[in-house]
Amino acid sequence: PDLDSLMNLYDFEYIASQILSNQAWAYYSSASDDEFTYRENHAAYHRIFFKPRVLVNVKDVDISTEMLGFKVSVPFYVSATALMKLGNPAEGEKDIARGCGQGKHKCPQMISTFASCSLKEIVEAAPSKEQLQWLQLYVSTDRSATESLLREAEDLGLKAIFLTVDTPVSGRREKDMKLKFSSSNAAHNAEPAKARSSRGASQTLASFIDPTLTWEEVAELKTKTNLPVVIKGVQCVEDVLKAAEIGVDGVVISNHGGRQLDFSRAPLEVLEETMPVLRRNNLDDKLEVFLDGGVRRGTDILKALCLGAKGVGLGRPFLYANSCYGKEGVEKAIDMLAEELQCSMKLLGAKSIKELGPELLDTTGVKNR
Ligand code: FNR
Repeated sequence: PDLDSLMNLYDFEYIASQILSNQAWAYYSSASDDEFTYRENHAAYHRIFFKPRVLVNVKDVDISTEMLGFKVSVPFYVSATALMKLGNPAEGEKDIARGCGQGKHKCPQMISTFASCSLKEIVEAAPSKEQLQWLQLYVSTDRSATESLLREAEDLGLKAIFLTVDTPVSGRREKDMKLKFSSSNAAHNAEPAKARSSRGASQTLASFIDPTLTWEEVAELKTKTNLPVVIKGVQCVEDVLKAAEIGVDGVVISNHGGRQLDFSRAPLEVLEETMPVLRRNNLDDKLEVFLDGGVRRGTDILKALCLGAKGVGLGRPFLYANSCYGKEGVEKAIDMLAEELQCSMKLLGAKSIKELGPELLDTTGVKNR
């Protein structure tokens, strides 16, 4: 269908389900075990309601904000997803870079360790100086490979490191496990010889990640780079406090889009529990809290921002937009979200991100789940 006829992110998902190869659809859409957490991630948004304020002059609303010391024109970002060439074989992650930088809204892009294009290719594809690119880092069993990827990210001018810590092993994503992974689609930073032998893309990639990683080593990694370090995949307030203790710059509350431990809680609920604790301990200025998982609507983003998230990540929606329409699809997805967010902020009676707070929400549904 014509891109102009698409109304929302679900339209991309439907089209992707119709046109993607079996392997791409299985890898992109799958989640672990019964996929309960996958569904819960979005369902949690249905338990929070707004308390709109009326008679506010909302002719102009400003959805720009700051993340990790940089101005951004939208409060959301493209989260890291591996193997974008499965869905967009010619351009892969390069079209995410283009879509994030070519339109009126410049959207940050988190680049996976297992991107199908090299870091350099993706950075060079970015059309705007204003757009932010970050590296998502998996710590490899080969530490020298991790170190050189970190150096490469610094040299190429990426602006932050998102260290993913929720994947000591891959969750059992059964749709994906049924299909053998073909080495022609290997990730850039995963050695093809090893990538040939295994079951499913997820299991293959996870075999490169070191399951021995601990807090001590993350604290040490923080001293090895001047870039902000954010821990991605934290799932309870206790671990957010540990992250604050070791002095990282932020956390992403995430369960990897329901692809790791099934029956993990929805990130939105964990955020709702976490922010009051950070405020009580005066840590909310020390640590930027991000979240991803199940975000599909402007109102989803708005709820997370009201609770105190600095930025909100989306994974699959951008994979689908990129697979179906390349860079134009990515730009369109960003515009859809920005428009939905602007409209719902006006209806909520808030003119800027700064004006958002938990007093604009009814969260009784979370407490009574
Ligand atoms: C991911 N995710 C992910 N995370 C990460 O840190 N490194 C990675 O390489 C990948 N790869 C990846 C592949 C695919 C196909 C998916 C769907 C997800 C997780 C991703 O960054 C994010 O946490 C979730 O996708 C968020 O959930 P939604 O938006 O997909 O519901």
